[in-house]
Amino acid sequence: MKKQPLLVIEHCEPTLSEWLLLEYKHAVKLWDGNLVFTRIADNRTARVLQKLGAVQKEKAKDIFSNKKCIVLDPQAKKPLLPNDCLLCDVIIIGGLLGYEKPKGRTKKLISDKSNFETRNLGKLQLSIDGAVFVTKAIFLGLNLKDIEIAREIEIIHDTVHSTILPFGYPIIENKPVITPGLIKYLTR
Ligand SMILES: C[S@@+](CC[C@H](N)C(=O)[O-])C[C@H]1O[C@@H](n2cnc3c(N)ncnc32)[C@H](O)[C@@H]1O
Repeated sequence: MKKQPLLVIEHCEPTLSEWLLLEYKHAVKLWDGNLVFTRIADNRTARVLQKLGAVQKEKAKDIFSNKKCIVLDPQAKKPLLPNDCLLCDVIIIGGLLGYEKPKGRTKKLISDKSNFETRNLGKLQLSIDGAVFVTKAIFLGLNLKDIEIAREIEIIHDTVHSTILPFGYPIIENKPVITPGLIKYLTR
C-alpha cells in the first residue's frame, strides 16, 4: 500500500470566505487522508478549520523544514509525477483563490519563501480542490496527460445570465468536478 503524503493547505487569504470554505471542505473530502491547514493566525478561522483537519499557526516552511516537501506552484518548471508523491513526505497547496489573470501568489507567498521543491499540475490554473483532485489522481498513479481538464466552465443561471469560471476543471465521465455547493452559492 502506498503511503499517502501529508497534504498541507497553506491558508494565504486574509479572510475565510464562504467560497474558500467550500473549496477547503471539498479538498479535505477528496484527499481523504492526513491534512493540515497552516498559517492560521486568528482563532475564529482556527475554530472553523479544526472541524476539517489539523490546524497550525505557523507556516509550512517553519514546521516542515526537515521534511521532504513539494510545493504545488503553477509557475514550477517540472510537472508533478506519481513518483514524486511516493518519495515526498508533504505536499503543499496554496489556500488561495484564483484570479482570472493569475498573479503568481503561490510563488511569492510560498515557493520563494522556502527551499522546497516545486511542481506544476499543467498550464491551467486549477481551484484548490481541483488541484487536490489532480494531485490525488497522480498519487494513485495517473500522469497529468491522462487527466482531462476543461479550460473553463460556464454556470448557467437562466436563459440570459451565466457565470464563467475561468479555471481548469478536471473532467470525470464527461462532467466537470465542481466544488459541492458552489453553483448554489453563485446563483443565489
Ligand atoms: C486557485 S490556485 C491559486 C493560484 C494563484 N492565483 C497563483 O497565481 O499562484 C490555488 C492553489 O492550487 C494549486 N494549483 C492550482 N493550479 C495549479 C497548477 N496548474 N500547477 C500547480 N499548482 C496549482 C497551487 O498550490 C495554488 O496555490
